[in-house]
Amino acid sequence: MANDQGTAIPDAPAGDLPAAAPLPHDGVRRRDFIHIAAVSAAGIGGLAVVYPLISQMGASADVLAESSTEIDISAIQPGQAIKAVWRKQPVFLRNLTPQEIAKADAVDITTLRDPATLAERTTAGKKNWLITMGVCTHLGCVPLGAGAGEIKGEFGGYFCPCHGSVYDTAARIRKGPAPKNLEVPLHSFTSDTIVKIG
Ligand code: FES
Repeated sequence: MANDQGTAIPDAPAGDLPAAAPLPHDGVRRRDFIHIAAVSAAGIGGLAVVYPLISQMGASADVLAESSTEIDISAIQPGQAIKAVWRKQPVFLRNLTPQEIAKADAVDITTLRDPATLAERTTAGKKNWLITMGVCTHLGCVPLGAGAGEIKGEFGGYFCPCHGSVYDTAARIRKGPAPKNLEVPLHSFTSDTIVKIG
């Protein structure tokens, strides 16, 4: 290649691209400003979204207070039950009679939909205290059977009026659509008359 005077101008090395024409100074500054402003706005928006999420991750005082609850069971006579509330859900605390214990123990658990013995669902040495969630494992209705005069169903435990699930005296599912036994929540006896749930 030659210029107007015929002087040879060396070819640019292969791969070198012509330099881009610089943008006017004001244009660069304006573009930078718009970019920075956009990033800043995104940052503020991000903070606004993240803060409530972070603040919700910390358990509030009332939730912490409900993480466990202690219940006095001294007034529950054999054959009776009470309903308590734990984590905003019903819990049944039932004092089984010797007959109800015998009935539960007589079942061949291999025939059960959700096999478990009464002993596995109660505390050692306190087999008469059946403590379960009062939440049907089908669709979450509260079964009948813990309140005075409520029907207990044909297996003598609990009966769910929503779709007819029937639980036995160990609160095991025996009939109807519920797939599992009533759940036994984590619990312990802090004394002979106080149960701590949770
Ligand atoms: S919710 Fe209990 S049987 Fe459906």
